[in-house]
Amino acid sequence: MGCQFYDHCEGGAGTFTVAMPKYTFGRGCLAEAGPRAASHGMTKVALFTDPHLVDGPYVATVKESLKTAGLSVDVFSTVRIEPDDDTVILASKFLAEGSFDGVVSVGGGSVIDTAKAAMVYALYPAEFSDYFGAPVGAGKPVPGPVLPHLACPTTSGTGSECTSVSVIRVNSFNTKFVMGSPYLLPQEALVDPMVCDSLPSTAVASTGFDLLCHALECYTARAYTTWGKVDNPVGRTLLQGANPWSDMSARRALEIVGTYLERGVADASDNEARDNLMWGASLAGMAFGNSGTHLAHAMSYGVTHLMSDITTEGYPVASPFIPHGISVAVSAPAIFRYLASAQPDRHLDAAGFMGAQHLDAGGDEVGEVVANRIVELMRATSVPNGISAVGFGASDVKAMAASSIRQKRAIENAPRIANLTDMESIYTDALSYW
Ligand SMILES: [Fe+2]
Repeated sequence: MGCQFYDHCEGGAGTFTVAMPKYTFGRGCLAEAGPRAASHGMTKVALFTDPHLVDGPYVATVKESLKTAGLSVDVFSTVRIEPDDDTVILASKFLAEGSFDGVVSVGGGSVIDTAKAAMVYALYPAEFSDYFGAPVGAGKPVPGPVLPHLACPTTSGTGSECTSVSVIRVNSFNTKFVMGSPYLLPQEALVDPMVCDSLPSTAVASTGFDLLCHALECYTARAYTTWGKVDNPVGRTLLQGANPWSDMSARRALEIVGTYLERGVADASDNEARDNLMWGASLAGMAFGNSGTHLAHAMSYGVTHLMSDITTEGYPVASPFIPHGISVAVSAPAIFRYLASAQPDRHLDAAGFMGAQHLDAGGDEVGEVVANRIVELMRATSVPNGISAVGFGASDVKAMAASSIRQKRAIENAPRIANLTDMESIYTDALSYW
């Protein structure tokens, strides 16, 4: 384990970088928002949240703390789940017109990602696609720092509080793309597991599979040494491939999923399970924020791009809508069955961390071991049985592959590079599992 980092490649990166926000975890820490925001020089705060949270207790706690610390607060709550460029443009206008000196986000990945992207366009106006990578965008780097950002996640999956990426639906392409820049990393994160007490089991399952795939993709990503040398050390992407830091946090996140996912979904009063899932989500965020995800996330975007008329129980969102974690989970067993042969040892290790059986498997059998453990967890947490269970059939496979093939950087971070034909086969294999 880990020895891949010592096989140095000609022209490959010889170093890796770890970037983290200042990080606080624990019940009640949302009440610390005020003094912590003030410590970053904030006096006038833009508080980002969504319409379902804005009148609830977590936003109230944060607002109260900010005001008690003497900060003024304006709220932006028109963030939609799965934010798009319209949401970000609206949010960037709110920021640009408000003379704010800091941002506090309270919400899931949609809220935190909207806050990150909105700061970029408020401070560095540009064509929307400019800061996205090819082929959707011009691949321009974010020019400089954004506002200080205190991120407070309210779900146990996104990990966005620990990452330098923002995932936004670009309407003209009708699919999601990733904006990444070291400048997008929040300065500070407040992770209060109390927010999980009221999460419905469907949300815990969906976000739990997001966390599972973040960790599993990081652990099996290409080694950082196989990416090219870094020309600009300050602007280097943190999506740099697997490294000892991402291995460490991904491994523990996978162990947490294996031990606590079923319990956390089944019982909202199981604090041990839900608190651990919240911690695991951050660990997986620390991993993927410093290594990058790969094929499971790339192929989730084909699922959400082409989703048909589907509503998802437990989410107050108009159809069509598939929660991010479900869009990743439905293809995951087929994807890891395909990838495992490229790095069987790492896949077997990862399966073991998740509590899989048959760890004496060799070569060609490893993909089955990983896939079977993911399927076991899907069945135990009532996650849809493959892409057919979210409205797709064999006739959709080509179009889904054609959409996902555009996620260039993520595809190249996988241990095996999938082409269009491979993706079509994987989606076919992902139609159903049981
Ligand atoms: Fe994700």
